[in-house]
Amino acid sequence: MKTVSPMARWAAGVFAVSVLPAMVAGLPVGVTVPPAAGEDAATPLEKAFPHSQKCKRCHLRVFEEWEASAQSRSILSAPFHVSLERYRNTSGDADGGMCFRCHAPSVLEYPDHVGVYLKEIASGDPNLDGVGCSQCHLIKDVDSERHPPHPTYQLGRVVFGSYEKPADNLAHQSAPSALYGQSRYCVACHENLPGYENLPDLLGPWHKTEAQKKGKQCQSCHMPEAFGESANGERNRKISNHSFPGRFGKVRADAVTMDVETDVRGKESEVKVTIRSLVPHNLPLPHPGWSRVELDVTILGKNLRKTYSEQRYYERVFGDQNGKATIFDFEGASVLRDTVLKPEETRVERFVIPTPADAPSMDVIVTMTYSPIHGPDDFVNEVVRRAALGRKDRAFQPVRISRYKENISLETP
Ligand code: HEC
Ligand code: HEC
Ligand code: HEC
Ligand code: HEC
Ligand code: HEC
Repeated sequence: MKTVSPMARWAAGVFAVSVLPAMVAGLPVGVTVPPAAGEDAATPLEKAFPHSQKCKRCHLRVFEEWEASAQSRSILSAPFHVSLERYRNTSGDADGGMCFRCHAPSVLEYPDHVGVYLKEIASGDPNLDGVGCSQCHLIKDVDSERHPPHPTYQLGRVVFGSYEKPADNLAHQSAPSALYGQSRYCVACHENLPGYENLPDLLGPWHKTEAQKKGKQCQSCHMPEAFGESANGERNRKISNHSFPGRFGKVRADAVTMDVETDVRGKESEVKVTIRSLVPHNLPLPHPGWSRVELDVTILGKNLRKTYSEQRYYERVFGDQNGKATIFDFEGASVLRDTVLKPEETRVERFVIPTPADAPSMDVIVTMTYSPIHGPDDFVNEVVRRAALGRKDRAFQPVRISRYKENISLETP
């Protein structure tokens, strides 16, 4: 039995919902038990979905990883704020909470709290989590029959996870759930936007891939396994990284292989790039609508002077009601062009380039990057204005995926 500490007393207040008899029995005398509020709407949101700060006390490692992740910024980024406003200006209040369905899924249980979230966001320093510990660990099930799949919550003292035998603790009960090790858990928020079922899904046919057939789940790549403490001071065991590497982070190194063949044919040459995506879903994922991956071929001639460069994009271009291209997927009524790399696809790109004249050799450089945010000037300028770091915000940084460089001799033998 753990010693009685102010910590234990605090822990009893993590969840303010109905206190289970087992928990009461485990509590030392003198500790005030929070009133059994029951699982009704009378429980304030911040009690039903305790803030991640409350879990930090015992799960420091997980917290620090999560804090560095995109998920922890799901309602904080300037691109999100500006596009949310644009969406709300056109959607009206009826669907005004749509974006929160995944960016702050507590609104699924508290639909009348959309306004609270909007106010919190406007404050610039929200006290509520978007996708925090509770928003993920209180998911009891995912209804995969619905599109997009729907997460169902069980709000209470029980935290779900994939351990079969979690150690006991004074803050919460733990229940094992196979769901947490399965792709369908993640797909609940990564498949598609609700109301956009007439547009193709974001991930593509992920469930038919070699990776999935081999038993690789989303977690295998995006929550890589390690060995360590799950809670402070507990014995070491299998743990899962919570920094959710994706666009940022280590997983990128395994995204593609690139083979480049250059055929010098007099005044013109051909650069053939064979890209093999190792990613078992679309690359990039086409939400938000401006996401795109750039493939750049640059030729350096004499004295390393640039003689040619060409860019091609992997993206999904949405058409609005009038058939005009828009970078806002929520204005999309159709798809005008879709060049995203499909799951595990091999794509061949041929570039015909002018062979540099009077040069003994040329450098062929092929680079693949995630493009920075782009769009109409008013939108981009507003994002710059709102971002704490202005143009230095990560949204404006290209992120390199892969690079190839070769020197090709041009001397005729
Ligand atoms: C409750 C909804 C929700 C669930 C469940 C969820 N995600 Fe996410 N995820 C998000 C949101 C929202 C973002 C985007 C945050 C942002 O950048 O604004 C995100 C971002 C990510 C990113 C980072 C993307 C990037 O651009 O780098 C990865 C990787 C990711 N999620 C993987 C997963 C995996 C793996 C799972 C399952 C274990 C999962 N997610 C479950 C909502 C969710
Ligand atoms: C079905 C769940 C879902 C819905 C609904 C949704 N998003 Fe997202 N959003 C995500 C996920 C997941 C990511 C991370 C995507 C990735 O990196 O591939 C994301 C990323 C983003 C990003 C880029 C990351 C960032 O925070 O800057 C923006 C901006 C964004 N969403 C805006 C919106 C807006 C505006 C709406 C409503 C019109 C919306 N989203 C609705 C799941 C959703
Ligand atoms: C996007 C959803 C998501 C978020 C956010 C999230 N988790 Fe997890 N967590 C998971 C999943 C899924 C697993 C199981 C992973 C597996 O089995 O591969 C897990 C596993 C765990 C585990 C057991 C394994 C380990 O690494 O210790 C703990 C403890 C945990 N989470 C605590 C937290 C805490 C605390 C937070 C907030 C700081 C948090 N989680 C945020 C989805 C999430
Ligand atoms: C008083 C300390 C304490 C607090 C506070 C706490 N936890 Fe835990 N938690 C633990 C311990 C101890 C374990 C067991 C770890 C083990 O088995 O190695 C655990 C296990 C877990 C697991 C794994 C459960 C499973 O079945 O796989 C998850 C998920 C989790 N906690 C989430 C949370 C979340 C979310 C919060 C905040 C709302 C939180 N914890 C707050 C101590 C705490
Ligand atoms: C075999 C490993 C693997 C599996 C399994 C996998 N992914 Fe990925 N995923 C990647 C790689 C690699 C990238 C990085 C691509 C890059 O940044 O170039 C990525 C990128 C992402 C991103 C962010 C990048 C973007 O284009 O917006 C999200 C979000 C994501 N994956 C979600 C998922 C979800 C959800 C699943 C499960 C259905 C999943 N992934 C399964 C390897 C995997």
